[in-house]
Amino acid sequence: MTKLENKVAIITGGASGVGNGIAKAFVKEGARVVIVDYNDEAGKQAIEELQLIQPDSIFIHADLADFSTHPHIISKTVDTFGQIDILVNNAQSSRVKPFQETTQEDLELPFKTGFFPTFYLMQYALPYLKEAKGHIINFASGAGITGEANQAAYAAAKEAVRGLSRVVANEFGPYGVKVNVICPFANSPGVKQWAEHMPDAFAETLSKIPLRRVGDVEEDIGRAVVFFASQDSDYITGQTLMVDGGGCRL
Ligand SMILES: NC(=O)c1ccc[n+]([C@@H]2O[C@H](COP(=O)([O-])OP(=O)(O)OC[C@H]3O[C@@H](n4cnc5c(N)ncnc54)[C@H](O)[C@@H]3O)[C@@H](O)[C@H]2O)c1
Repeated sequence: MTKLENKVAIITGGASGVGNGIAKAFVKEGARVVIVDYNDEAGKQAIEELQLIQPDSIFIHADLADFSTHPHIISKTVDTFGQIDILVNNAQSSRVKPFQETTQEDLELPFKTGFFPTFYLMQYALPYLKEAKGHIINFASGAGITGEANQAAYAAAKEAVRGLSRVVANEFGPYGVKVNVICPFANSPGVKQWAEHMPDAFAETLSKIPLRRVGDVEEDIGRAVVFFASQDSDYITGQTLMVDGGGCRL
C-alpha cells in the first residue's frame, strides 16, 4: 500500500519547480493531484507527465492573485473527486529589492500571490479537510526566518504564512486537521538561474550548507511533503520543518 492511496491533493504552483516535484512524489504514492498554476504551457506539460502515473490527475489554470479563482479551485476539485484530503500552498511570486526601494506593488506581490491564496484556500477547503481529517502544508522560507537582506516583502509574507499556519493548526487541531510549514532549498528554475548568473554568491551559500548540495524538488522536498501529507505525521501540527540541507537553524 502506498502512502497516499485514495487521497486527493491540491498543489498550487504545481506546474514547475518545488510544486511539480511535490506533485511527482505524490502521484508515485498513489494520490490523485490537482495542480493549480497560471503558467498554462508548463501546466499542460506537467499534467501529461503526471497522468502517465496517475491518469485521474487534473490541471486547473488560475492566477492566484485573482481571489475569485479560489472558490472555483475548491469546487472544481470537489465536483471532480468528491473529496479533498491534502492542500499544499506552494505558489508564490516576489521581487528581490533593497528595503528603501520596495514599492507598494513590490510589497503586495508576495502577499497577493502567496499569503492571501494560502489564507483563502484554507478557508474554502477546511470543511472538506475536516471530513478527511486531512493535512495542510504551507510554504515559508529561511529568508523570512533569518531576515535575508533585500527580501523585505517576501520575508514578511512568508513569516505571515507561518503565523497563520499556527493559528489554523490550533483552531482545527480538534477536528483532526494538521497544518505544517516547510522551508525548502531546492533546484527550482529560479534557483538554477540564480546559480548560473551569480556563481560566486551561489558557491558562498552552498559552502554554508552542512550537506553541501542543493535539494532536489522531488527526491528531497517532495518526499518531505509526502511525510507531512501522510498518516506518518498524524501527531504533528503547527510545526515548521527546514528542508534545506541544514542551511538555516530555527
Ligand atoms: N526553491 C527554493 O530554494 C525555495 C527557498 C525558499 C522558499 N521557497 C518557497 O517554496 C515555494 C516554491 O518555490 P519554487 O522555487 O519552486 O518557486 P518557482 O517560482 O520556481 O515556482 C512557483 C510556481 O508557482 C507558480 N505561480 C507563481 N505565481 C502564481 C500565481 N499568481 N498564480 C498561479 N501560479 C503561480 C509559477 O508559475 C510556478 O509554477 C515558494 O513558496 C517559495 O517561496 C523556495
